[in-house]
Amino acid sequence: MSRQRECLPIVIVGHVDHGKSTLVGRLFHDTGSLPEGRYEAIRKMCARRGMPFEWAFLTDALQGERDQAVTIDTAHIWFKTEKCDYVLIDAPGHKEFLRNMVTGAAQADAALLLVDAEEGVREQSRRHGYLLHLLGIAQVMVLVNKIDRIDYDRERIRAVEAEMLAYLNELGVVPRFVIPVSARGGDNVAEHSHATAWYDGPTVLEALDHFEPAPQTTDLPLRLPIQDVYKFDDRRILAGRIETGVLCKGDRVIFSPSNKTAHVASIEVWAAQPPLESRAGDSVGFTLDEPLFVERGEILSHLDVPPLESDVFRGRVFWLDAKPLAVGSHYTMKLNTSEVDVAVQSVERVVDSSDLSATASDAVPENAVAEVVLRADRLLALDPHAQCRPTGRFVLVDDYRIVGGGIISMEGYPDQRALVSVKSTNITEVGHAVAADERTEQNRHRGGVIWLTGLSGSGKSTLAQACERELFRRGYQVYVLDGDNVRAGLNANLGFSPEDRAENIRRVGESAALFADAGMLVITAFISPYVADRVRARAATERLAGAGAFHEVFVNADLETCEGRDPKGLYARARAGQITEFTGVSAPYETPEAPDLVIDTAEGDITACVAALLDHVERTFARRD
Ligand code: ADX
Repeated sequence: MSRQRECLPIVIVGHVDHGKSTLVGRLFHDTGSLPEGRYEAIRKMCARRGMPFEWAFLTDALQGERDQAVTIDTAHIWFKTEKCDYVLIDAPGHKEFLRNMVTGAAQADAALLLVDAEEGVREQSRRHGYLLHLLGIAQVMVLVNKIDRIDYDRERIRAVEAEMLAYLNELGVVPRFVIPVSARGGDNVAEHSHATAWYDGPTVLEALDHFEPAPQTTDLPLRLPIQDVYKFDDRRILAGRIETGVLCKGDRVIFSPSNKTAHVASIEVWAAQPPLESRAGDSVGFTLDEPLFVERGEILSHLDVPPLESDVFRGRVFWLDAKPLAVGSHYTMKLNTSEVDVAVQSVERVVDSSDLSATASDAVPENAVAEVVLRADRLLALDPHAQCRPTGRFVLVDDYRIVGGGIISMEGYPDQRALVSVKSTNITEVGHAVAADERTEQNRHRGGVIWLTGLSGSGKSTLAQACERELFRRGYQVYVLDGDNVRAGLNANLGFSPEDRAENIRRVGESAALFADAGMLVITAFISPYVADRVRARAATERLAGAGAFHEVFVNADLETCEGRDPKGLYARARAGQITEFTGVSAPYETPEAPDLVIDTAEGDITACVAALLDHVERTFARRD
């Protein structure tokens, strides 16, 4: 079977003056993609005006034609190499472009970022770098352009390159190639340049051929959002459209987020022989081998590659409404076939779609793009957009109007599926020979958990230890569980990825609950950066030791203060890029919304902080006769 020619949509970003049009013209020409006679016409026109050949004119001329082109197809094929057709997506800075990218109407799979070697990294270059991060484009090529203007000065090129890479690295964008070029002169575009003999990497065209087009939807893991469940005779027929992958009769499948599993008994079609398989793009009905209760909104997948489960995620949103999107607001989110209420937990960065300038703000105005953190009140089944586009985007609705569209990123947030999955079967809980009341009677205090949460360096360990000492003196059965200690033993196999942190807190939450059930007072000192994990820790304690046995204490000190203290020198190392995923620097910390107690350690002296915590403990845990 002959393979279809591959097609890769790319976007060229960079300051207008940094040579975008010139590069586009050059790429047309060097790949032989120009319409007959077009190059000659521009050459003659430039000669008539007594000016050197201007590549940008060529691009402008083609752009004009393209805008008037009738069919999308001719409008979009721009240039091709032996391996691949390349489609150029409209220039950014342009509202339409951003809107299409963020809402999923168009997609660039690769980007060329141009930087002027003479001017170096400018504000505009940074803005475009940020855009690549925002849109989650993984295949990036940095072109240090106009190297002829600086006499191919290797040192200068390296310096510009280093500056751009440092900035991109901060954003988590890792370019696959960095190429010194002169778009005007053609150096390293289609041909290796003699002027940069020291450069032994690929030319732009060679590098482009190393980029991968997005996988076909049928090659991706199966995703079938359930649209409806019909009852026919005594059969339940589930219906939906296969967004990605292939569904076969007999497949073992799982529904998310309910996590119910079954086998596909049949695939149903009207008045035709039932097919053995259906693929992406097909709308299907099917039955299961078990009478599961499944609702509209769940996603069906194969058991081994399910979607993620989370109640929180990062949305890169294009905002369409005159009323700004604001922290604390609630919207209806349409995610595949589900509809859920989401609250805006935070707005991380707002980008003006006309000039790409970014600001820190709590509100997103009309036509701006923003990185926001959205929270639902239950687990959702979702995919990061970079991994599966159809199930990785959403729409926000307010008052029946679409007010925004966006794509999902899970950067910094864990998949919570493993935390809620129960693997053990045939379990029967047993009781205890000693009742909780008896323990309280003997200890003269109730068992419980004082859960300290806060940034590294906020003072959790110091507070925990001072309280442990004093409570022990007063006769309490008290014990501190501390992050750095538990990570040396029980959790020695866990690191600091979002998933590992979540598992760290799950285990500590369950252990603390056991301590509480044993009648002890346990003080925990863990960053515990995620709301969902702290909610689960509370539930674990309350399940065993009853309501009111868990107290969340927010040990509050701002990042600057914690960084100033830096007791273990870790912030300095994180800033220097030696520690990745460091809370507050390159990993999120979700502030408690309704903690049982807040202790501000930035202001208050340590004695006052300890006294406040002790007072809280005495008031809530001491036995009252
Ligand atoms: S948590 O996020 O999983 O709750 P935990 O409280 O157990 O973290 O551990 C935090 C301690 O580990 C910090 O006080 C610090 O000493 C150390 N540490 C090492 N690497 C990191 C990191 N990347 N982020 C935060 N803390 C880290």
